Amino acid sequence: MSNIFESTHPLVKHKLTRMRDKATKPKKFRELVRELGALLTYEATADLATRPVRIQTPMAETSGEDLKEKIGLVPILRAGLGMVEGVWELMPSAEVWHIGLYRDERTLKPVAYYNRLPVAPTVAVCLILDPMLATGGSAVATVDILKKWGVAKVKFVGLIAAPEGIERLHSAHPDVPIHIAAIDDRLNEDGFILPGLGDAGDRQFGT
Ligand code: PRP
Repeated sequence: MSNIFESTHPLVKHKLTRMRDKATKPKKFRELVRELGALLTYEATADLATRPVRIQTPMAETSGEDLKEKIGLVPILRAGLGMVEGVWELMPSAEVWHIGLYRDERTLKPVAYYNRLPVAPTVAVCLILDPMLATGGSAVATVDILKKWGVAKVKFVGLIAAPEGIERLHSAHPDVPIHIAAIDDRLNEDGFILPGLGDAGDRQFGT
């Protein structure tokens, strides 16, 4: 499968291992989600377009590059919220558009409960932020929403994925690059990623 990018960075591996550990408490867990969000986004944004600009340094005039396209960060509530801060620090001019989806525990299907996107798109590139790609239902639904909104380029930035979720998102939206810290073994019968890290929402928010 093309367009799937599993990080090979040692810092990512180290921090993900700390996240998986069940002894890691919510405060540390949140810190790791924030840091990993930034590290993964650094990898996911390597192909963003730039435009030439002229600037004046304290010594001389020179040319440089600015980001060309308006970026939107789209955290999927709740768990994606923890990734926003780290990513936003890298791109302070990005807009943040929240999408509220929860996964029905019985059907495992995503249920939409929050979407305040304006009629016309205000950004050219969207980075969907969600630590978990399990069945892939929530990610597919979010890409559907963003494409319908009219966004030209969408990328998914996550922390862990099940092969089932990768397959589903990739088949539904092969044009959407998937940037992930690790692809795990499988889903269990309750739709949880194995070995995974438990429920990223509950572990961040202490619920
Ligand atoms: C989790 C996770 C993803 C979704 C992944 O959210 O944060 O959004 O499940 O599952 P899927 O790939 O099978 O759709 P959850 O529904 O637990 O909501 P929460 O973030 O509010 O805890």
